Amino acid sequence: MLESKSNVGFKASKTFRATVSRGLLTAHRWWPGARRLLPFRVYRALARAFFSAEEEFRAHPHRRWITDQMLPGLAAERPARVVFVGCASYTWFYERYFREAGSEYITVDADPAARVWGSDRHYVGYVHQLDQWMEPASVDLVLMIGVYGFGLSDGGQLHDALVSIHRVLQPDGVFVMSWNPDTSSDPGAHHDLHGLFEHGTVKGFPGRQAFEGLVLDFYRRRSDSGHVGGRPRLNPD
Ligand SMILES: C[S@@+](CC[C@H](N)C(=O)[O-])C[C@H]1O[C@@H](n2cnc3c(N)ncnc32)[C@H](O)[C@@H]1O
Repeated sequence: MLESKSNVGFKASKTFRATVSRGLLTAHRWWPGARRLLPFRVYRALARAFFSAEEEFRAHPHRRWITDQMLPGLAAERPARVVFVGCASYTWFYERYFREAGSEYITVDADPAARVWGSDRHYVGYVHQLDQWMEPASVDLVLMIGVYGFGLSDGGQLHDALVSIHRVLQPDGVFVMSWNPDTSSDPGAHHDLHGLFEHGTVKGFPGRQAFEGLVLDFYRRRSDSGHVGGRPRLNPD
């Protein structure tokens, strides 16, 4: 499953890929502006073919679980609209699981350079701005993996992000959030995350799936959080 999805459209050997990658990097060093001459789709196709190897990272148990279990399981529920926060060279193909299920797949990243790993419907901006771009209650699933502790930090930032996600999610919408126990403390323990979302089994997945270096928490949107049209009952610290 991992191989068939992650290497779609890419049949070149490792050596060929390494040679082309080196050539493209050298060209970039000599003429850094050259890529702006390429149509974005050509640049994106080159980046995906030659700079998204990271096979070691993809083989990590938590990534294998995400690609072999979590994404197919969530896609099987055929969510109409999915938002994926934070894009990287090892996440661009996640879109396929949902596209094949007929879902609309939207990506968001604050870093403009990450657009190359995003979907056709990609927003450059912060997750706490989601509710400025999207209709309330218009999203079935929000996946925020590898973002808390990787740009999105504690306190007000997380608070605003959670409020925004809650606003755009459908009443029974699903929110999956990860954190790294090596570098962060459990966000659920010191934020009133539970005021907005109910932690627990979601679509057959346990509320918490813990791996070395990554914990994934599954939540369902609460409708009784008391912030419709007003401030949420959320304690950021
Ligand atoms: C570790 S990377 C990739 C995360 C990816 N979702 C994953 O599955 O590992 C984190 C990405 O999140 C983006 N990011 C960090 N804070 C953000 C925020 N508040 N809003 C949107 N994107 C953010 C960064 O620009 C970066 O590209």
